[in-house]
Amino acid sequence: MIASELKWAKANTNIALIKYWGKRDEELFLPMNSSISLTLDAFHTQTGVAINKESEKDVFILDGKEVQGKAYDRVVKFMNLIRRQSGIYEPAYIESINTVPISSGFASSASGFAALAAAGSKAYELDLDLKQLSILARQGSGSASRSIYGGFVMWNKGQCDDGSDSYSEDLLTPGLFNISVLSILVSHETKAISSTMGMSLTVKTSPFYKGWLDSVDKDIEQVKLAISSRDLETLGIVMEHNTLKMHATMMSTRPPIIYWNEGTMAVIQGVTEMRNKGYLVYFTVDAGANVKVLCLPEDEAVLSEFFRTIPAVKKVTVCHQGDGVVYC
Ligand code: PMV
Repeated sequence: MIASELKWAKANTNIALIKYWGKRDEELFLPMNSSISLTLDAFHTQTGVAINKESEKDVFILDGKEVQGKAYDRVVKFMNLIRRQSGIYEPAYIESINTVPISSGFASSASGFAALAAAGSKAYELDLDLKQLSILARQGSGSASRSIYGGFVMWNKGQCDDGSDSYSEDLLTPGLFNISVLSILVSHETKAISSTMGMSLTVKTSPFYKGWLDSVDKDIEQVKLAISSRDLETLGIVMEHNTLKMHATMMSTRPPIIYWNEGTMAVIQGVTEMRNKGYLVYFTVDAGANVKVLCLPEDEAVLSEFFRTIPAVKKVTVCHQGDGVVYC
């Protein structure tokens, strides 16, 4: 493969402030509920794609190693969507560099499929706008639909069976509401249950799932208002409530899904301790043990030092608002 033929795109990961949990269509990745996220600047995926006429099948290189198995099959399935849209049925050569910890609640699939949607569609000569890219990325991983945009983003669940109205949009001009996110690593381990499996199990078996769905629209409205009025306190309180509801729902499935470990709890207790001391500091946890903490930029240094003193904490990365997908 000639390096100059690769079309490159870079996408950042995002942290869900109001979570997406449950699909109404597993094939098209259509969510049961809308969600809101913040795109971060610290973790990203950069992906190059080229049409590869010399090969009989797609080749996917991640961080210098050829990928096979389930991760490869997922990428091929996604490339098939692009091939169907473009009418070009040649195999692809895909090279990806990832700075996001994989499968540990750090949304590696969000940046991964957002970058692949942008680079892949460019290589296959599709001229997609951001809305169309968001719809395409969604079909690789739901949260990837949000990583197309920078800053605060809302993914509207949509109503249509074909998914044409299920895409993300940015909520606020970047830079108008600056908050810091401390990304706190307490586990390097790959989660035992993928979000896809976890969602399916929750929708099918949790007696509390209806409660989740009935209450999430109110969380969305409150967080939208908090973002537009730049109110970290309301945003944080609703975000924590939403996180706890999602995890309580997961824990009530059969068999149960428990992503947390003792480090998760220690960080949550640390958040409570610092809040009692007067800091505006709030936690959220995605499908994994690791925790993200929201705070004011002026408190990020003190708070990250504090979280580094918790024995279970392996690493604290300070993040800010990141950009949407870019071609590079
Ligand atoms: O898009 P997926 O399959 O990575 O699922 C994301 C699930 C959560 O991270 C728990 C919530 C979210 O909205 O990102």
